[in-house]
Amino acid sequence: MGRTGRKSWLWVAVCFAAAATLLIPVKLQTEAADPVAPPLLLGTAWYPEQWPESRWDADLTLMQQAGIHMVRVGEFAWSRMEPSEGQYHLGWLDRAIAMAAEHGIFTVIGTPTAAPPAWLTQKYPETLRMGEDGRRAEHGNRQQFNFANPKYRELARKIAEQLAKRFGHNPHVLGWQIDNEYAAESYDPDTKAQFQQWLKARYGTLDNLNARWTTAYWSQTYSDWNQIPIETHYGNPGLLLSWKRFVSDTWRSYQKNQLDVIRANSDARQFITTNTMGWFDGYDHYTVIQDLDLAAWDDYVGEGHLDPARNGAAHDLTRGFLRKNFWVMETQPGFVNWAAVNNSLDKGEVRAMAWHAVGHGADTVSYWQWRSALNGQEEYHGVIVGADGTPVPLYSEIKQIGNDFAKAGPVLEGTTVKSEVAILHSYDSRWAIEWQKHNRQYDPVAEIVSYYKPLRAISQSLDVIAPTAPLSQYKLVVAPGLNVLSDAEAANLIKYIRQGGHLVLGQRSAMKNVDNGLQTERQPGPLVDLLGGRVEQFYALVDPVPVEGDWGSGQGKLWAELLSAKDNDVKVLEKYGKSNGWLDGQPAAITRKVGKGRITYIGAWLDDATMAAAAKWMTDVSGVKPALGPVPEGVEVYPRYGRHGAVYILVNFSKTEQTISLPSQMQDVLAGGIKRSVTLPLYGVAVLSASR
Ligand code: GAL
Repeated sequence: MGRTGRKSWLWVAVCFAAAATLLIPVKLQTEAADPVAPPLLLGTAWYPEQWPESRWDADLTLMQQAGIHMVRVGEFAWSRMEPSEGQYHLGWLDRAIAMAAEHGIFTVIGTPTAAPPAWLTQKYPETLRMGEDGRRAEHGNRQQFNFANPKYRELARKIAEQLAKRFGHNPHVLGWQIDNEYAAESYDPDTKAQFQQWLKARYGTLDNLNARWTTAYWSQTYSDWNQIPIETHYGNPGLLLSWKRFVSDTWRSYQKNQLDVIRANSDARQFITTNTMGWFDGYDHYTVIQDLDLAAWDDYVGEGHLDPARNGAAHDLTRGFLRKNFWVMETQPGFVNWAAVNNSLDKGEVRAMAWHAVGHGADTVSYWQWRSALNGQEEYHGVIVGADGTPVPLYSEIKQIGNDFAKAGPVLEGTTVKSEVAILHSYDSRWAIEWQKHNRQYDPVAEIVSYYKPLRAISQSLDVIAPTAPLSQYKLVVAPGLNVLSDAEAANLIKYIRQGGHLVLGQRSAMKNVDNGLQTERQPGPLVDLLGGRVEQFYALVDPVPVEGDWGSGQGKLWAELLSAKDNDVKVLEKYGKSNGWLDGQPAAITRKVGKGRITYIGAWLDDATMAAAAKWMTDVSGVKPALGPVPEGVEVYPRYGRHGAVYILVNFSKTEQTISLPSQMQDVLAGGIKRSVTLPLYGVAVLSASR
């Protein structure tokens, strides 16, 4: 984050207090030295444009009393900012930011381009996106814009420029969120023409494209770029993947259009981000997020309760976009309005979820939204303050988080997550599996989580990164379902093994090349030689098959790959039991030492107990140690490391109270005192500093 200065938050508080006493506007006091935001920020989405200005102070006072120090504003307020073309009205936003600052609250400005005003789309109907059915979107919802339309980009750039010119040097503005949750594509003829141009730039000649997509199949051969369609579900696999790559590049350029103009008109200390959506795979996030200063995501549970493994992996995924700390830009205050059942999180669970986020590397947790709008599509959504303007029951828990963050912020300042184990994640591979599941229950994210969960329980820290990321820092790298393997990715993996790393490939690995075509070698393609074995055949399963071996006796479900071990030094770790005849007695998991490194292939989707044993073997053989030490089941450990050593965040997600004995004396940052053990109720949290 582009924050400057090492001045403490305390200093700013003193400054605010002194200014209040002297009745001098804070802005004057802070002009000489910019205020600095607390290291751990509690925030909320605030929509001042929906309320009379006379109400703002009451809302900001309630926020201040809860320990909220950040509001995100503006991301849907275009019609208020520019009520008619070229007429910019930003005075209200200036006043809102200034009033928030008087309450010690910093602002993040969202550019309003996810919700264009009615005058805009009426005047320029080509800016409305077109669905796959050929219908144009209409005004009345949001995200109705066409992300590839030049006129829309021109108007988006202008409003972003106005905002940046006005607030780019405002010391109370921490940064920028571009748009809101990029998601909706357009399939209009102009976007299709752009796609065809994009293909021309990527493939050069139609001969090359035809060869790489094997368009001889079903007479798909193209003799003119204009013939190439958009397909999103059942087209040629090379075409499907190309469309997704085009969409990713188009979101990147859509973002850059605003990013450039904000950068040119704002202080370097203001960060630029956008809010992503966890496992959402509408575009390749590694492509889009690389241009930003900060990764941020919107963390919603929806129906049910927090699943620390799946949600934790999504935090780690987001941290992996830029391989540094991130923000939770939105999360649910209790419940949402869009799930099948919008149940509330339990009392204490919202706080546990906030610490779960911080543990995974979030430096900000921000709630959507502050107060119920009086009308609009989301009247039922959870909030902190009701439509009547008074706190809902959850307010007290939010306030507790505010207190926690104030206490723990200085200890966590400058700390980051460091892991010995990485899981590789690729959008190409997820898409490729989704388009050709072969077993309709096969969920590539569930496959990732099946490895993530037991590995995290042992190591207590995991990174989720792209297959092209630097790997040398890891003792163990696990690639579940890396179905598409480009030459560059293969080279990165081979280098890692040769340098002494342990690579574990999960089922469905390395079947496809960069064009989503089949590799010309059996799985795992370019890694067959190092593995000294290969996949002879894959089988989609109706019923689970038995497996047995070093990891015990268990079952494999959904998918089974019959492996062979060619070289003598290949060890068979697990075999299939009696099933379809083909698999009976054949290898299900094999491993081979390669110099100081190792490569392992697991061909079965293992049940939980067998996977836990496999994870234990993987970590033992790779020398991976738990970050803190053994803890009771259901207690999550999140280490963060800084100049003063380790800080451990502990959250109890098990159903009962748990006592955790610590390997050494630690300072209990929230409860106070020096401890050798801590006892946590369900959803209880401890922050433990090893060094202070
Ligand atoms: C998010 C969105 C917010 C709000 C929220 C409700 O996806 O960014 O504007 O709609 O969902 O859960």
